[in-house]
Amino acid sequence: MCSQLWFLTDRRIREDYPQVQILRALRQRCSEQDVRFRAVLMDQIAVTIVGGNLGLQLNQKALTTFPDVVLVRVPTPSVQSDSDITVLRHLEKLGCRLVNRPQSILNCINKFWTFQELAGHGVPMPDTFSYGGHEDFSKMIDEAEPLGYPVVVKSTRGHRGKGVFLTRDKHHLSDICHLIRHDVPYLFQKYVKESHGKDIRVVVVGGQVIGSMLRCSTDGRMQSNCSLGGVGVMCPLTEQGKQLAIQVSNILGKDFCGIDLLIMDYGSFVVCEANANVGFLAFDQACNLDVGGIIADYTMSLLPNRQTGKMAVLPGLSSPREKKEPDGCASAQGVAESVYAINSGAGAQLGRSLAPGFPTLAVGPVSLSQRAGPLSSQLPIGPAGGNMGHRASSSF
Ligand SMILES: Nc1ncnc2c1ncn2[C@@H]1O[C@H](COP(=O)(O)OP(=O)(O)O)[C@@H](O)[C@H]1O
Ligand SMILES: [Mg+2]
Repeated sequence: MCSQLWFLTDRRIREDYPQVQILRALRQRCSEQDVRFRAVLMDQIAVTIVGGNLGLQLNQKALTTFPDVVLVRVPTPSVQSDSDITVLRHLEKLGCRLVNRPQSILNCINKFWTFQELAGHGVPMPDTFSYGGHEDFSKMIDEAEPLGYPVVVKSTRGHRGKGVFLTRDKHHLSDICHLIRHDVPYLFQKYVKESHGKDIRVVVVGGQVIGSMLRCSTDGRMQSNCSLGGVGVMCPLTEQGKQLAIQVSNILGKDFCGIDLLIMDYGSFVVCEANANVGFLAFDQACNLDVGGIIADYTMSLLPNRQTGKMAVLPGLSSPREKKEPDGCASAQGVAESVYAINSGAGAQLGRSLAPGFPTLAVGPVSLSQRAGPLSSQLPIGPAGGNMGHRASSSF
């Protein structure tokens, strides 16, 4: 009898969400641990209800057994609740343990939804306004007056720093109103001046902080995203920062995520956003970690009868169901690695260079304090901070 694990992803995912590292890590662990592994693409699945019962077809074949655990990587900027989330809900209703769960993915696909979830929990966040109708941006220019100027404006569905801008005054806002796309609402947010051009990316897996990276823009702009030319360097995080990232991850119900924290002058933080589908190439390089491997280890720990590992314990998250599988494990099946590699760009390159002899990291939490001094001794670092690490090759 053996367990079954799927890696469920999407053809639309491109180099900003490296897949091939996770694919390889899962494939390797499943073959070593006698777990049936299958790589599945979203468009290979048909969801059915026949005779009042839920069913699943994969490449036009009805399945009789379902995976115990499914590691999901879907492109959050384009996730569709009526198609992608339908499939994820269906799998969950069939008893599969999804990593991340559909509700927790939904909590992060829209920046304002994330803040709605976090509100009322005492989580420090910049004051943020949004609106109902798609076309109500200009109306909000008056409504958002209490936030003051300059004000930060973000597409609720933006990513990689692309839909984020800083506007200096009311006239500037009404000028650009006609130039921007209005297919999704925007949010208006208090500008955290102290954090201009820098923030902290914290990666949380299984309710534990596994690492943190200071990101700085190099051209004076507010957004520190590496995909816009920002650079990342490993930095330790205070206990307060770690607890905040863990609290956010738990409220959102995440198994793994990347939390962006804005830095206040006095060494405290406010939450900027939470990323369901954390990219990790720049993070791996800056922090000398193997986040794909850590996510794979965590996912394996959720398989039935393995939930003794610390990483599997997430407050508020239940265990996957126990279920009988036929004896004898089929070898790994599913999508060829090339499907992921084609879209992986830098990811595929990194994967190749890491594969032979790259040290597998322990699943346990990394003690950041052992790596360098306290954060306060390293900050603030200006936009063109001289002592930065490498230029990151991927998205954050
Ligand atoms: N309210 C703010 N004040 C100051 N800087 C901000 C603020 N919001 C975002 N930023 C900067 O802009 C970057 C991108 O914003 P974010 O909300 O994370 O969008 P994205 O999903 O595109 O990364 C952040 O990493 C941070 O450097
Ligand atoms: Mg961000």
